[in-house]
Amino acid sequence: MSNSDIKEAVREKYSQAALRVSIGRSSCCGTSADCCSPITSNLYEPGETGGLPEDAVLASLGCGNPTALAELKPGETVLDLGSGGGIDVLLSARRVGSTGKAYGLDMTDEMLALARENQRKAGVRNVEFLKGEIENIPLPDNSVDVIISNCVINLSGDKDRVLREAFRVLKPGGRFAVSDVVTRGEVPAQLRQDMLLWVGCIAGALQESEYTAKLAQAGFEAIEIQPTRIYSIEDAREFLNRKGIDVDAIAPQVEGKFMSAFVRAVKPV
Ligand SMILES: C[S@@+](CC[C@H](N)C(=O)[O-])C[C@H]1O[C@@H](n2cnc3c(N)ncnc32)[C@H](O)[C@@H]1O
Repeated sequence: MSNSDIKEAVREKYSQAALRVSIGRSSCCGTSADCCSPITSNLYEPGETGGLPEDAVLASLGCGNPTALAELKPGETVLDLGSGGGIDVLLSARRVGSTGKAYGLDMTDEMLALARENQRKAGVRNVEFLKGEIENIPLPDNSVDVIISNCVINLSGDKDRVLREAFRVLKPGGRFAVSDVVTRGEVPAQLRQDMLLWVGCIAGALQESEYTAKLAQAGFEAIEIQPTRIYSIEDAREFLNRKGIDVDAIAPQVEGKFMSAFVRAVKPV
C-alpha cells in the first residue's frame, strides 16, 4: 500500500461517513448503531455534548476524549488534527473561551462542510476549520499551545512527518495531547496489510514503543502513553467478521494487543 493509496482510501471512507451524517444517519455505517466499530462507541459523558449540534455528535469517529484530558485553559490556541465533523473543536472552543481559538484541520471536503455547518449551528466564533493535510499543517511555526487529535494519526502513512509538523507549529512549552489507537506487541502482518482495517483505524496503529520513539525523534519530551481502553477479541468479533476476517484464526495473536490510549508529550521550552 503506497502513502497516496492510503490517503485516497482514507479520504473516500471519511467522505462517505460525512455524507451519511448529512442525510441524517450515523457516521459509522448505513442504518444501525450496532454495526459501528467498538472503538468509536460511548466516548463522551452524556452531559458533555449537551448543547452541541446533533450532527457533530453523530459524526463522532474518535477513539477517546482528548479535550477532557488535555487540561485546556482560557485564552489558549488549540489545533485538532483530523477534525472530522468538529466535535472536539467545538468542545475545545468552549474550554478556551472567547479569548482563545480552536482550529480544526481536515483534508476531506465533505467533513469540512459538515464541520462548518456544525459551527454555524453552534453559533461559535472562536473556531476555524482549515483544509489541509496533517503531514503539512497550514499554520506558522510556534503558533499553537495545544495539539489535540482523535483517532487520526494512526491513519497517516507518514507518521514521522505528522509528528515533526506538530512539533513545528507548537509554541515552546506547547502540549501534544492526542487520543489514538496503539498496539502492545507484534500484530499479524495479514492485519497490517489490510486497507479496510487501515481506514478503520486498526492496521496503521503504531506500537507503544514506536510511538514513543517517533515523538522523541521529533523533539518531544515528557512522553507518556496511557491506555484508556484495551480491546478483547470479543469486542471486535462482529466488526472483524463483517470485514471478512477469520476471527478465531487470529484471536491468539491479537487478544489484548489493541488499545485506545491518551498520548501526551511536551515541546521543550
Ligand atoms: C477517524 S476520523 C476522526 C474524526 C474526528 N477526530 C472525530 O473524533 O470524530 C478521521 C478524520 O481525519 C481526517 N484525516 C485522515 N487522514 C488525514 C490527513 N492525512 N490529513 C488531514 N485529515 C485527515 C479524515 O478526513 C477524517 O475526517
